Amino acid sequence: MEDGVEIRMNTKAKIIVALDFDSTTEAESLLTSLEGMPILCKVGLQLYTREGAAFIKKLQQRNLGVFLDLKLHDIPNTVRHAIKVIRDLEVDMTTVHTSGGPEMLEAAAAEAKGSNLLILGVTVLTSSNDATLHATGVPDTAASQVLRLAALAANAGIGGVVASPQEITKIREHHASHLKIVTPGVRPTWAEANDQKRIMTPREAVKAGADWLVIGRPITAAADPREALQKILAEIS
Ligand code: C5P
Repeated sequence: MEDGVEIRMNTKAKIIVALDFDSTTEAESLLTSLEGMPILCKVGLQLYTREGAAFIKKLQQRNLGVFLDLKLHDIPNTVRHAIKVIRDLEVDMTTVHTSGGPEMLEAAAAEAKGSNLLILGVTVLTSSNDATLHATGVPDTAASQVLRLAALAANAGIGGVVASPQEITKIREHHASHLKIVTPGVRPTWAEANDQKRIMTPREAVKAGADWLVIGRPITAAADPREALQKILAEIS
């Protein structure tokens, strides 16, 4: 692990709670119920668009590590400047689309260099399949495209990737421990799958090589979120 990332973030935290809410009211009430637990928080476009950097500050005041999931994809110069601003927010992780290509990825990596920001590359979204790729002019299968894009990210100096449970082993085989892996689509056996299709349990995902697990609804929609998180932590300990 990059030293800076380890220093800033709660080293015990393996679980990233997805704060997929419209406003801070719901997010704050969830965080109060999880007070003192070893977690990081993921803020995506939904919450960030409404609440912006002020909410990021609030999370940091609660001593929580932040994964700002904005999935940047633009010309290298624009991405570089966006990463500079994100770096200044002192968040711990952020995302870029690896399909932006080598120059864009290198620009992002260069801007984060020397800071504590871990940049994660998004490869093929789990909502996409072979047909989606073909429709956009990519003749390959989603499975090979994931590996190709993970290689692009690694070669450009990007620190990690977001990978579905099914992709962890293949990415680990090809990139050993060089790339950090953050994995969504995780479901404990007692939780509903919701709209997630190719799921793994937290224990299986960690065993397969995930460094962090992104978990939303099994915690955020639980009758007792603290108890749900405790059960997940017990499962992966
Ligand atoms: O509620 P749930 O556990 O399904 O939330 C998973 C989180 O991970 C959501 O914020 C979702 O957008 C995100 N995510 C995902 N699959 C991906 C990439 C991100 O579920 N491939």
